Amino acid sequence: MIDGDDQLVEAAKRAREFAIADFSNFRVGAALVSNDDAVFTGCNIENATYGLTVCAERVAMWKALSEGARGFKRIAVVADTEKLTSPCGACRQLIWEFCGDVPVVLANLRGDVEIYQMRDLLPRAFDATFLDKAEATR
Ligand code: THU
Repeated sequence: MIDGDDQLVEAAKRAREFAIADFSNFRVGAALVSNDDAVFTGCNIENATYGLTVCAERVAMWKALSEGARGFKRIAVVADTEKLTSPCGACRQLIWEFCGDVPVVLANLRGDVEIYQMRDLLPRAFDATFLDKAEATR
């Protein structure tokens, strides 16, 4: 934990309260802090098609990016699980591409916290560096 992680986790907890999770009843909150210390939060948003569900992490990222934020320091994810909830595969890809190798702060409602680096959550990630063929074959 670094200074500010408590507040980041609290922000994710507050965002979780707004989750629209009528189908799964699984509520998740996320909070993302940018390099200039702005905090963007998100909750999961489900709908009747199920498949159009958006995870809390993505809501937080899309809010940040669509407001012009670029470059991020860390992201917190909170759910009410004993084994701490970590981002789904799709979100790992997007966190990697838009936030880079950030620490991912996982927490639950009873105060347990674990921190993982994105490079450990998504080893050998595919990203834009592969689209430059010269770079990819090096
Ligand atoms: N969910 C998230 O929002 N973030 C995660 O890290 C894991 C899963 C949501 C998606 C869906 O609304 C519900 O949790 C159950 O999968």
